[in-house]
Amino acid sequence: MLITPRRDKLNKIVILNPKGGCGKSTLATNLAAAYAQRGPTPAIMDYDPQGSTMAWLERRPADLAAIHGIAAYKKSMQATRSWQLRVPNDTVNLLIDSPASVNHDDLRELTRDSTSILVPVLPSTMDIHAASRCIADLLLVAKVDRRDRKLAVVANRTRKNTKSFAKLMRFLDSLGIPIIAVLRDSQNFVHSAEQGIGLCEMQPSRVQKDVEQIEKIVSWLEAWPERRRDSTSVTSINRQPKVRRSLLRRPSFSSA
Ligand SMILES: Nc1ncnc2c1ncn2[C@@H]1O[C@H](COP(=O)(O)OP(=O)(O)OP(=O)(O)O)[C@@H](O)[C@H]1O
Ligand SMILES: [Mg+2]
Repeated sequence: MLITPRRDKLNKIVILNPKGGCGKSTLATNLAAAYAQRGPTPAIMDYDPQGSTMAWLERRPADLAAIHGIAAYKKSMQATRSWQLRVPNDTVNLLIDSPASVNHDDLRELTRDSTSILVPVLPSTMDIHAASRCIADLLLVAKVDRRDRKLAVVANRTRKNTKSFAKLMRFLDSLGIPIIAVLRDSQNFVHSAEQGIGLCEMQPSRVQKDVEQIEKIVSWLEAWPERRRDSTSVTSINRQPKVRRSLLRRPSFSSA
């Protein structure tokens, strides 16, 4: 069972989608770099036994803005679990990179007390199906309440003018879940990962379009206190109807 930190006012951003290779670590590291550039020092917690986020952090040049790394996938015999997962007291923004397969208990634990949950989705039909199952589990198993507006999708390696993207949009629209950014398929992501940096730390003329999308995600994430306030002030009369499992289990997508 995974354990995640609890602390009031911690901006806990969880990135998940059980589909391997959809861009969780790419998103986590790029957001960490963007937060590091703005300050204060963010923390990134890696729950994936592959440790790719921690490896990225090890490659990070020492002269760049610091990011605190927590290798949550490692089990230490020397330290207690809570010591191992300790988030520095002055941390405001915590990014959580999750592994490809997450059981129901871990899904509940990972998302508990989260301020935002990002689901990166690749454009293929299979990936969109997997993402819709992931969203169904978030709503029905982890009991993430859509009215809290903490759940959003990031379309990754996507061309907007495809049939599958339009269907993904319609499906998410029907659930009131926003697609907050569309990341193009670009070697910039690959090169930045290799160097332990974020896109925002690359030559601006080369990455402007991609950085704009990362900035869009950060703006959405930063609005978490307002989103939370709005959701608590919504009267029950305005609340959306309950999600039916059938709605979530039967999205039909065709290839682009
Ligand atoms: N927008 C993009 N353009 C080009 N390459 C990308 C993009 N996003 C991710 N990649 C590349 O795709 C590969 C998989 O991405 P990433 O490791 O972020 O996925 P993941 O969801 O964390 O995978 P896993 O489930 O194995 O942890 C990496 O090599 C990454 O550099
Ligand atoms: Mg990963």
